[in-house]
Amino acid sequence: MTQVISVVQEKGGAGKTTLLITLASLMVADGARVAVIDTDPQHNLEDWAKKEEIDLDWIFEDNDEKLIPTIRALKKASPAYDVILVDTAGFKSAMAVYAINAAGLVLIPSKANESDAKGAIKTYRHVHGVADSMDKDIGAYVVMMDVDPNTNITEAILASLEEQEVPRLNAMCAHRTGFKEMMSTGRGPEGSAKRSAQSVLAELQIKGLLDYYGGHNGKA
Ligand SMILES: Nc1ncnc2c1ncn2[C@@H]1O[C@H](COP(=O)(O)OP(=O)(O)OP(=O)(O)O)[C@@H](O)[C@H]1O
Ligand SMILES: [Mg+2]
Repeated sequence: MTQVISVVQEKGGAGKTTLLITLASLMVADGARVAVIDTDPQHNLEDWAKKEEIDLDWIFEDNDEKLIPTIRALKKASPAYDVILVDTAGFKSAMAVYAINAAGLVLIPSKANESDAKGAIKTYRHVHGVADSMDKDIGAYVVMMDVDPNTNITEAILASLEEQEVPRLNAMCAHRTGFKEMMSTGRGPEGSAKRSAQSVLAELQIKGLLDYYGGHNGKA
């Protein structure tokens, strides 16, 4: 079965594309067959994938009504994709609803600042609303991005997520130049950025959230 993971956050610039590229490239390195769908008119994900440094397939689709049929077609591919990752634009949109709808897992990146955290909390509630309306169980987790761990602001943001009972990964993508370089190199994270990224992938595996590694989306 192909797992669909959507990266959603209604606040722009929170690290959606960075997180998606990071996970895609680490999973390809682990042997997964990966497809990525860029639904953002900025084309950032497509621009990265087009460099063809990472062995994956990509599609650009900004017509929201075509997203579900596109995913359906990709799910029928042979050999099957292990994972389809969907990137979305940084605002609330019909496209984001379709991307949530199609996903078994939604990741919500947030940098350690007030407006990203607010966006993450609202996005988490939105994912729940969409899942409820479909009578579906969709796991959703905040992933902290661009983090400087031992600062007061990071502590305060983590506390506010906890207070709002918004689940998040303990592992975070630290503030590293290696994450920025990916857009120009077309590759995945390298050096200390890679180590930081691997901690995020490892936690997703341990939580059983990634089917490719034998998880079942957190469900029995
Ligand atoms: N862990 C990190 N370390 C350093 N820089 C980071 C990190 N995560 C994200 N960034 C930087 O933050 C900026 C925004 O990231 P990104 O483009 O991934 O966000 P986005 O949510 O996809 O934005 P948009 O809403 O415009 O699509 C980029 O310059 C990216 O390099
Ligand atoms: Mg983006």
